[in-house]
Amino acid sequence: MIQHVTMPKAELHCHIEGAAPPSLVQRLAEKYRVDVSSVINAKGQYIWSDFTSFLKAYDLASSVFRTPADYALLSETYFRMLAAEGAIYGEIFISPDHAQSAGLSYRAYVEGLAAGIEAAKEGTGIEGRMIAIGVRHFGAASVERVAREVASTPHPMVTGFGLAGDEREGHPANFAKAFRIAGEAGLGLTAHAGEFGGADSIVAALEFLRVKRIGHGVRAIEDKDLMKRLVDEKIVLEVCPGSNTALGVYSVLRFHPVNMLRKAGIRVTLNSDDPPFFHTTLGKEYSSVAKIFGWSFEEQMDITRTALQAAFCDEGTRQRLL
Ligand code: ADE
Ligand code: ZN
Repeated sequence: MIQHVTMPKAELHCHIEGAAPPSLVQRLAEKYRVDVSSVINAKGQYIWSDFTSFLKAYDLASSVFRTPADYALLSETYFRMLAAEGAIYGEIFISPDHAQSAGLSYRAYVEGLAAGIEAAKEGTGIEGRMIAIGVRHFGAASVERVAREVASTPHPMVTGFGLAGDEREGHPANFAKAFRIAGEAGLGLTAHAGEFGGADSIVAALEFLRVKRIGHGVRAIEDKDLMKRLVDEKIVLEVCPGSNTALGVYSVLRFHPVNMLRKAGIRVTLNSDDPPFFHTTLGKEYSSVAKIFGWSFEEQMDITRTALQAAFCDEGTRQRLL
């Protein structure tokens, strides 16, 4: 338990709207008179039953964040919780589409989130960055619009661009243009692949989106050639074991491939994805994986080092944290 708090950690894969504590969502829902009883139960837990209903619950919970101050409170809350678990660095996925649905401009959304990250840094020292995502099931035009907006409205804390949402919809080729725009703007690139899609989905993301990091990527275990390629090309996987077991990608942690992927020489990191939806935290991810696969302190430190090496931050920050 003590080790779990003091172990320096870094998170590369967490959706900020998916990190909203249900109590905060309920508070804002009352303020804005939104009925969230279909997605938060009497015990104050999120309600969902499969990936599709999870995405719907996530959309409704997101809709109660409406002002820069709401988002500042959300990001400060998340980064303070992360720092309390020993994290020194975190990247959050931000979703301009969700902010727009709640009536907020991209600039106002980012400035609100940045204020919360700064406040958490002042209080705890934790460093934070943002990765703007396009939502795959909203279609290629929507993802491209996000890429253009991020590229034309630079912010020092928005250092990456990514693709999330329902991997079962839309081929990566459809999003190549958006990723080209974001890449040319100097943003780090990552895409969800190999979560609900198989190894071929990862291959397509590498081919068409030119990413050096893959969100999840765990289904690479199904293709030996792809595993070799990930090793050779030093691709980093943003692995989220608790999310994968909660969503049924693997039945239990014991059968999760993170240990085999790491043993094969693939660079893996540990992440919480949407922590309260999956009853997890970054600290729990480190401690549960270490316990089940017998990872030493040094092996866990290696996970943190890999995350910092792959972080979408400036070299000065990276060297200071490493
Ligand atoms: N958005 C939030 N969580 C996600 C996940 N696990 N996969 C894809 N898109 C998401
Ligand atoms: Zn994710």
